[in-house]
Amino acid sequence: MSFITDIIADRFRDKSFDIAKQDYKFMKIKRAKEEIKKKYPNIELIDMGIGEPDLPADKNVVDLLSKEAPKPENRWYSDNGIKEFQEAAAKYLERVYGVTNINPYTEIMHGIGAKSILSMMPLCFINPGDITLTTLPSYPIISTHTKYLGGVVYGLPLTKSNDFYPDFSNISNIILYRSKLLYINYPNNPTGQIATRDFYKRVVEFAHKNRVMVVADSTYAPITFDGVEPISFLSIDGAKEIGVEIHSLSKAFNMTGWRLAFIAGNEAAINIYGIVKANSDSGQFRAIQKAGIYALNHTEITKENCKRYSRRFDLLIKALKEIGFDIEKPKATFYCYLPIPKGTKSGKIFRNADDFSLYLLNEALICTVPWNFPESYVRLSVTFEAKDYEDEKRIINELKKRLLKLELVF
Ligand SMILES: Cc1ncc(COP(=O)(O)O)c(C=O)c1O
Repeated sequence: MSFITDIIADRFRDKSFDIAKQDYKFMKIKRAKEEIKKKYPNIELIDMGIGEPDLPADKNVVDLLSKEAPKPENRWYSDNGIKEFQEAAAKYLERVYGVTNINPYTEIMHGIGAKSILSMMPLCFINPGDITLTTLPSYPIISTHTKYLGGVVYGLPLTKSNDFYPDFSNISNIILYRSKLLYINYPNNPTGQIATRDFYKRVVEFAHKNRVMVVADSTYAPITFDGVEPISFLSIDGAKEIGVEIHSLSKAFNMTGWRLAFIAGNEAAINIYGIVKANSDSGQFRAIQKAGIYALNHTEITKENCKRYSRRFDLLIKALKEIGFDIEKPKATFYCYLPIPKGTKSGKIFRNADDFSLYLLNEALICTVPWNFPESYVRLSVTFEAKDYEDEKRIINELKKRLLKLELVF
């Protein structure tokens, strides 16, 4: 056998790594999904497990990329990004969130997706033994990289009794003393909870008091429904002094595969991010950044998505309530967070969310994503494939029929 496996860094031998577990979870679901598709090739699988928009990018965005891609002046490394994208991002923050105090050249920088930006934050701030505070459940990237660097991750559970907000009052002084980063993500994946101005004010206060830098992951910020206005963390007084906010084009503009996002806020943080970034990648393709500018200038693309997700939620939440689930329509994101039932009338007991999720897949061909900690929930996404509104109604009806047949006990 090759010696290569022997020399892989010790950190990857630690089985507690979030990313390993996370990958394992998604791999397990993917495998189970493939098996079930093979077993029942003629029965439609209702896939509510997908965390990506169901539609491709807007036609004008695609056309602009086609136009820009062959231009010789776009072929260069873009390094830390083109100025025009930074300017468009600043205007976007103003137009959508009313944020006016951001300098596009010193307080905004692009990234090859929010994931990439998050992965670089610990390298900017974490020394061995330093702590990253993160809400749980969480998008795991900032935690994974904190651990790579010998840092420690301290979880702030998002529970129903806390309305899916972190409780800062429970963190001991010893933890606070060593904490450097606080990761928050609202509107939240997977709970669907939104930030309020009050909550963000408390975060700003907490960060100032404890000298912790806030990383507000606002990947889903503009995806809101029913008159809920999108909020930016940066719109709160004092936020820029203690934090940064990450915006992504992935979900808002159906551009997951395009890899384009930006970080905005504290100048010192953006500066150090720029140093790490310049030593990690050479920037996103200029033609993609130019297509991204078109998207940022056309927020009606996001609004169309919101309309589609909202009407799908209206159908889905009504059906789930009629079946007996205790659930309300989320105000944002394309996820709803469903508490697991106790079991079925036939005697099946669900010990945790994995159990329930696998049961749904095997017995009803419905794909979901489970979370066991801090509470047992499954996540359903309304980004399932459907041709039109009629098809959406048909799929939700089918989902309801299948769930009713399971005779769930709550
Ligand atoms: C909370 C959260 N942050 C960041 C990302 C990654 O976004 P991007 O595609 O910009 O890397 C995701 C993707 O699922 C996410 O759910």
